[in-house]
Amino acid sequence: MLGRPVGRRAVLGGALSLATAAGLAACTRGTSSPGVTVGPGDPSVAAAEQARTRAGVAVHRVQLTAAPARVDLGGPVVDTWAYGGAVPGQEIRLPAGDRLSVALVNQLTDPTTVHWHGLALRNDMDGVPEVTQPAVRPGGDMLYEFTVPDPGTYWFHPHVGTQLDRGLYAPLIVEDPDEPLGYDAEHVVVLDDWVDGTGRTPDQVLGELQSMGMDMSSDGPSSAALGGDAGDVAYPMYLVNGRVPQAPNTVTFKPGTRVRLRLINAGADTAFRVALTGHRLTVTHTDGFPVEQVDGDAILIGMGERFDALVTLGDGVFALVASAEGKDGLARELIRTGSGDPPAADTRPPELSGALLTGNMLHATEDVALPDQTVDREHQLILDGQMSDYRWTINGRGYDEHRPLPVTAGQTLRLTMTNNTTMFHPMHVHRHTFQLRPSEGAGARKDTVNVLPGQTVVADLIADNPGQWLIHCHNLYHAEAGMMTTLSYRR
Ligand code: C2O
Ligand code: CU
Repeated sequence: MLGRPVGRRAVLGGALSLATAAGLAACTRGTSSPGVTVGPGDPSVAAAEQARTRAGVAVHRVQLTAAPARVDLGGPVVDTWAYGGAVPGQEIRLPAGDRLSVALVNQLTDPTTVHWHGLALRNDMDGVPEVTQPAVRPGGDMLYEFTVPDPGTYWFHPHVGTQLDRGLYAPLIVEDPDEPLGYDAEHVVVLDDWVDGTGRTPDQVLGELQSMGMDMSSDGPSSAALGGDAGDVAYPMYLVNGRVPQAPNTVTFKPGTRVRLRLINAGADTAFRVALTGHRLTVTHTDGFPVEQVDGDAILIGMGERFDALVTLGDGVFALVASAEGKDGLARELIRTGSGDPPAADTRPPELSGALLTGNMLHATEDVALPDQTVDREHQLILDGQMSDYRWTINGRGYDEHRPLPVTAGQTLRLTMTNNTTMFHPMHVHRHTFQLRPSEGAGARKDTVNVLPGQTVVADLIADNPGQWLIHCHNLYHAEAGMMTTLSYRR
């Protein structure tokens, strides 16, 4: 089983064409609502950046090369595409308020871009081809330069085709110059589902999903925690920080060290359930923003989501295990504070089936919670799909025929997202950290939220970052098959 049919709505849409890469690029016009479109070159974009930038601020310069690479995943050696020849790419780290200046060189055979997932950046640095910039052609380069406004755990990846499901991803850590959390050390953990270089490329995986759309016989993975189908792709391997579980990285600390884990799911089609043998985890942040601290045994992380967790380490050798939720397989890292033999590569810590924390359970701390103010505008997003041709839609439309969702700067916008399919969708809004509004109380501030089958998720945001912004499912294959639209500032 590689792909599996999705949704239960094969009869709905008829023979609409797939949102191919060309289709994705073609559709930034099609304005169905009045007002002047505020594009990446609009003076208000530069003005918003100006307002974020202090005088005399430090500039961090980074060279970033996207190129084909042969990478050792801890046994399996794969030919893939990577940043600087490493999977994950080299972390970028700087204090909030500083400027980041990244010189991208594209040595790939395809055009590429870099998207800095989750930060409130200026629109012309968002890295979305045809919406915010032309893609960087093979042999070309581009300077990405912007102020990083908020501390937190972020990451970056291309926003072209299926490139994210190659090795093109890396952490972007924005430190808080006045860090309020107490801890001794930190450790960044990047999770991934891996297929590239194992006999097929992500492009071939997408092609197979599209051609298998009619095959209704196969039973795919499912998960109670995800409320239904767990994914469309069974991956041959899963990775923590670029390693298979048989040859994990080992990180060493002293017993009693209080460690801040920064967990990032860079997978394309896999949610991960993460636990550390013999420990509970205290979640402190999601998607860069602080939450009321809560303890659990395991954390469920959708694609694109991040969680920060504190843990005080015991004495011994412990496996930090990321189990591919609803699928077969896991990835892991070893945390060593003392002597002892590591557990076997397939050991599943009992904590994996203990108290599970998800992004929808968390509550923003008071200092970052958005006030419960009047909503000026509301957009419904009906998430749907049809298995007849592997087409995923928002409000009945693929990206090639999407209707932009208009907003005016200064408005409080409510997004009401309803999932009419049998699979979860980690919905991501570019450059706006929304406030979840569960039926009671205030939820977390997030930029990526799992919308489970049959569920409606309400997310409010302040329209304070002018431009044209994607809203999409962070399942890469869903996004490529149409599940994207735009949040379109108008004036
Ligand atoms: Cu992580 Cu539109 O992206
Ligand atoms: Cu999806």
